[in-house]
Amino acid sequence: MKPMIAVCPGSFDPITCGHLDIIRRAAKMFQQVIVVVMVNSTKHPLFSGDERVEMIRRSVADLPNVRVDRYDGLLADYMRREGATAIVKGLRAVSDFEYEFQMALTNKKLCPEAETVFLTADAQNMYLSSSVVKSVGSAGGDIRDFVPSAVWQDIIQRLNRKEDEHEH
Ligand code: PNS
Repeated sequence: MKPMIAVCPGSFDPITCGHLDIIRRAAKMFQQVIVVVMVNSTKHPLFSGDERVEMIRRSVADLPNVRVDRYDGLLADYMRREGATAIVKGLRAVSDFEYEFQMALTNKKLCPEAETVFLTADAQNMYLSSSVVKSVGSAGGDIRDFVPSAVWQDIIQRLNRKEDEHEH
């Protein structure tokens, strides 16, 4: 039987505990999972695409059926190239729904052979997002419970460097 390959796409700028929870659960449901960092040139990211890939790799090092990749084009094209048939996304609140529903329908149109699968966010990660991490961290707040332990120091260092750049 062909392996069922799922993709967890996102910006991951940076990866949070909420992302990691969804990736872990996807790894239990599918034979192979590819976490794909989609690089959106219109956004001003804190981390480069390659840095984000490297941080996710460290966070998922204990998951043998998960690999990490980056892609700068359409998710539908990536799905076809990799033979992936499921897109796994986390839903935190009703406010996520409209945007995610639009993306799911667009991806269904562009790649009809793939299904989008929504997992409800874990209750303790409901409020978490990469933006919350950046906002709390840059104001000197403790983000250790928000991000995988393998990456929190990188995030603090980068946010501190940004603060220094602003001051000078
Ligand atoms: O973590 P994010 O920013 O919510 O992820 C959004 C992402 C990267 C999954 C989405 O913007 C995306 O799939 N971008 C790739 C371009 C694409 O395929 N667009 C068509 C679907 S709307």
